[in-house]
Amino acid sequence: MEDKLKQIKNDFEQDIARVKFQPELESIKIKFIGRKGLITQVFKLLPQLPVEQRRAFGQKVNILKINSARQIDDKEKELRNKTSSSRPQDYKFDLSLPGIKKDLGYIHPVSIVIGQICELFVELGFKIAEGPEIETEYYNFEALNIPLEHPSRDAFDTFYLKDKFLLRSHTSPVQIRVMEEQKPPVQIIVPGKVYRPDATDASHSYMFHQVEGLLVDKGITFAHLKGVLTVFAKKLFGDKIKMRFRPHFFPFTEPSTEVDISCIICGGKGCRVCGHNGWLEILGAGMVHPKVFEAVNINSSVYSGFAFGLGIERVVMLKYGIDDIRLLFENDLRFIKQFS
Ligand code: PHE
Repeated sequence: MEDKLKQIKNDFEQDIARVKFQPELESIKIKFIGRKGLITQVFKLLPQLPVEQRRAFGQKVNILKINSARQIDDKEKELRNKTSSSRPQDYKFDLSLPGIKKDLGYIHPVSIVIGQICELFVELGFKIAEGPEIETEYYNFEALNIPLEHPSRDAFDTFYLKDKFLLRSHTSPVQIRVMEEQKPPVQIIVPGKVYRPDATDASHSYMFHQVEGLLVDKGITFAHLKGVLTVFAKKLFGDKIKMRFRPHFFPFTEPSTEVDISCIICGGKGCRVCGHNGWLEILGAGMVHPKVFEAVNINSSVYSGFAFGLGIERVVMLKYGIDDIRLLFENDLRFIKQFS
């Protein structure tokens, strides 16, 4: 029986020396000191010994059990320290496996371009302003000198809601809202969504984005308008582009202009994107109409100013070579992921 005990002790020591992971330790515990473990079993053999040997032998078994339990505890602590500080050397970890990539989200190309445009104007001293997307006829039309018979007031061109509310069809109403609150000098840039009930196709969407600009002070002239918009367009599209200011009509500016840049795709030679004429229209602009100043109680014989409105999607499409506006609004991540 002494031999058997020695054998068990040896086996235990060998086993515990080999242990590398916690689950192995658990099975050693069961094998030796569990309820049916080898050491526990030896206790059951005690009655077979002559009475005078039982006490001494029993003590030995007990000591072995206590020692084994302590060694298991010590090993457990050792393993725990090891796993928290460094991995065991032969831990099975396949370094060649690809990692799990976290999807962090992407900035929409429309937001990227709005950000860039606003940044350029902020550098020129403009402040960012915003206004509501649900507007009244007064702000969207009347205060901007857009008469009742103007085609843009037709239900084909504007989304009407109940009670004379509508979805703004341009960002220009924010000019009025800001000038009602603030007397000149006013120098704002207004990014935002606008709505028109157009049938959707490759170049039309019922919702798109504009950036409106307004600068009002004493002595502002068309030269300021040209200067600011030229600096802006060259910063956005590159120094090489040429600018063209064509006479145009808007009810809320006089004189009014549409501004073209030389085609950034073909450099002005003529291509499919510019309709083979070498120019791309990028914005509408003009000197603030005296009727608009009148609506906000600003004296137009003292103050003057210029305003402009720019469609964002068109700029996005030109910059990134996108040929269908719908791609911008389908929320297909495979598309959206490519820009930020
Ligand atoms: N609001 C005009 C449009 O949507 C653009 C514009 C803004 C023109 C300001 C002149 C001055 O077409």
